[in-house]
Amino acid sequence: MQNQLLDTTAKTIAPKTKNIYIESYGCAMNFADSEVVATILSENGYTNTTNEEDADIILINTCSIRENAEQRIRHRLIHLRANKKRNNELVIGILGCMAERLKKNLLEEEKLVDIVAGPDSYRDLPKLLNEVDEGNKSINVILSLEETYAEINPTRLNSNGVTAFVSIMRGCDNMCTFCVVPFTRGRERSRDAESIVKEVQELSNLGYKEVTLLGQNVDSYLWFGGGPKKEFVNLTKDEQNSSINFAKLLEMVALVDETMRVRFSTSHPKDISDEVLFTIAKYRNICKYVHLPAQSGNSRILDLMNRNYTREWYIGKVNRIREIMPDCGISCDIISGFCTETEEEHQDTLSLIELSNFDFSYMYNYSERPGTLAARKYPDDVPEEVKGRRLKEIIATQNAVSRKKNNEREGKTFRVLVEGTSKKSANDLRGRNDENMVVIFPKENYKPGDYVDVIIEKSSTTSLVGKAIGKAEKP
Ligand code: SAH
Ligand code: SF4
Ligand code: F3S
Repeated sequence: MQNQLLDTTAKTIAPKTKNIYIESYGCAMNFADSEVVATILSENGYTNTTNEEDADIILINTCSIRENAEQRIRHRLIHLRANKKRNNELVIGILGCMAERLKKNLLEEEKLVDIVAGPDSYRDLPKLLNEVDEGNKSINVILSLEETYAEINPTRLNSNGVTAFVSIMRGCDNMCTFCVVPFTRGRERSRDAESIVKEVQELSNLGYKEVTLLGQNVDSYLWFGGGPKKEFVNLTKDEQNSSINFAKLLEMVALVDETMRVRFSTSHPKDISDEVLFTIAKYRNICKYVHLPAQSGNSRILDLMNRNYTREWYIGKVNRIREIMPDCGISCDIISGFCTETEEEHQDTLSLIELSNFDFSYMYNYSERPGTLAARKYPDDVPEEVKGRRLKEIIATQNAVSRKKNNEREGKTFRVLVEGTSKKSANDLRGRNDENMVVIFPKENYKPGDYVDVIIEKSSTTSLVGKAIGKAEKP
């Protein structure tokens, strides 16, 4: 009797599935990839958890862009290894760019993890996890010419329910000499346009109000039926006629839902075309904002970086954007102290920031990455303290421009998409305007997902503070 009872219980309770906790570092593409990983694993019987304590398996999706990004992850892995000593069953996996860069070193020499999976191997994760169950370490770091995870519908992790990332391409062929991305993410390839539009439609059905289309160089998006990247001129006539470039894709996405905002990142100054700019201008729901990394304001340094544009070309692009869309937000990435950079060349970067009137910039010290063209060809010869001092000057110059621009926004009204509560005060909401500036205002009866017209009363270097004057239906 007793046995029978136990037997029935065993039949009715499903076996406990393993809990997976995914932690992401690095750029938006990594966060988007983690959502693809979550789907692949949940379709294979694993459960995603947002609580690290509940995890049977911890996956860290990593970034290699600068030395300090990798250092941070290494510390985290060392900390996790200590947890593993307490719980021998805990499985730790490393995904993403650092997995691709360091490959089996992480398993063998450093013995930090059980699984190493590069950015193109996520469909293989269930198999890799099984291998670990059998007592082995497992690794897949094969890069692909075709993988885009096109048909996998990402599981939105830590979502605010308002904004979502949609990956439109993978890899990068640009070979900027400082950059590790072409080595960690492989060759450029575009995702099927139809699957992108379908994903955006599903987000719209779920009530999302903003999508950001992601790629390392969105302006070179080109869908012609799949496979490794080809230039437009190398397509057959039929492929050319049915191909979809970035401008066309933007339009297709904008037409999905006129109440949904469309953003994109990142644009490369050498590739952003008038066709793209006119498409942004044409649709009210495509945000008037371009992230246009310059990296340096000096043509000799830009040449050493293999950016394929000059200072003058860059300034020409900024002027063109503002000619077509006078109020367009523009932001930038800058690297301080690249190989052989002189004081005068650094001054060119400061003057580029002033001339271009960037709304904000992401600014970094140059960090030599093993295996990149710069590491092989050029000396990392700007001393750390000089890089640091130049970076401070770059930040001070950008902050002065940001402060001035935000000051000019006082008294103006902006349409803001509310994303959530302000970090500083539960009585305030936080959102962004079209140009991607953060706007804070008192909550009243507004909520995340609302479009609210806000009149700006105060400003700082990084945000605008105002008061709601009414709700709107669309961007
Ligand atoms: N695809 C994007 C940038 C991706 S990496 C583009 O082309 O603009 C994001 C930023 O990190 C870069 O724009 C650059 O400013 C910075 N970065 C990349 N490699 C770096 C390095 N080795 N040292 C310091 N900063 C770096
Ligand atoms: Fe790196 Fe250049 Fe590609 Fe950007 S465009 S990811 S900086 S190689
Ligand atoms: Fe980092 Fe890889 Fe993105 S190196 S910035 S996570 S593409």
